[in-house]
Amino acid sequence: MASNQFLTLNSGHKMPIIGLGTWQAPDSEVEAAIDVALEAGYRHIDTAPVYLNEKAIGRALKRWLDSGKVKREELFIVTKLPTAANRARDVESTLKKSLADLQLDYVDIYLIHSPVTAEANEDGSLKFDADGLMVPDLSADITTTWTAMEKLVSSGLAKSVGVSNFDQEQLERVLKVAKIPPATNQIEHHVYLQQRDLVNFCKAKGIVITAYSPLGSKGLIKVNASAGINRKLPDLFDIPEVKEIAAAHGKSPAQVLLRWIVDNGIVIIPKSTNPERLKQNLNVFDFKLTPEEIAKLSTLDQNFRVCDWSLLRGVQRHPEYRF
Ligand code: A2P
Repeated sequence: MASNQFLTLNSGHKMPIIGLGTWQAPDSEVEAAIDVALEAGYRHIDTAPVYLNEKAIGRALKRWLDSGKVKREELFIVTKLPTAANRARDVESTLKKSLADLQLDYVDIYLIHSPVTAEANEDGSLKFDADGLMVPDLSADITTTWTAMEKLVSSGLAKSVGVSNFDQEQLERVLKVAKIPPATNQIEHHVYLQQRDLVNFCKAKGIVITAYSPLGSKGLIKVNASAGINRKLPDLFDIPEVKEIAAAHGKSPAQVLLRWIVDNGIVIIPKSTNPERLKQNLNVFDFKLTPEEIAKLSTLDQNFRVCDWSLLRGVQRHPEYRF
């Protein structure tokens, strides 16, 4: 089964190289999608409180665990410390809230969702000013947050800890204080945004890259449009080179895009709530890209960031925001 391919993290734990992404997977769809995914062989599920679907995912996981069809130690569950709680004092309580929603005792990896910290309302939600802009919290520091993250490992609430959306300089600052280095840096990575320097830096430091938006997050086109954001996004499935390679192997463009990433030792978390596409995304190991095809795909980089966080208005005012 494809999902049985793992990478070993610097924490010693094994991470399935293909996970199910759940960003933009609404509550109403995600529970059924988890059922299909687990049935198909997915064992790695990526979520975050800001995706607003942890409770639905928790319901599906509980059913599967209670039925005995899957054991907890076979699952690899990822969730993240939100921007509004990105400060040392909020780390443990925020993870405990996610664990309650997910109906789990521990996560396999807990990630700092972004290096940015925002002020929070009483209920933990993001605070916005009168202009609808996120209010940066400049009192928090990623290194002290990291020290609090490390404590989750000793308390058993997280098997591993990591970061997301960190650049090299931010990682270097964390590594300077770290007793436990981040196990992964989850970043946007696909043929149009290859981030080679950052990928190579992480590899040299033993930090596994997890690629989010490995298919270019087409769903964002609709989300942006409904938020009034007029930004043209590329369609990676329509790139002639990708289509040509897909046709040569009798695979879909999505499968080619994904295989190219995992061949580089990078974890992928493609999102789908569609049963056929979700299965297709797991089925990427029954063909092999030639060195020429890999080289051709590697020339496609456009340094094009699909997820520029435009939806989080005001994020640009935080000095840790680097996109
Ligand atoms: P859907 O959930 O309807 O399948 P990313 O993982 O880069 O964020 O991309 C997710 C987007 O790509 C979603 O819109 C998803 O839609 C779509 N998608 C996921 N897998 C495939 C696939 N195999 N072929 C075509 N579109 C896909």
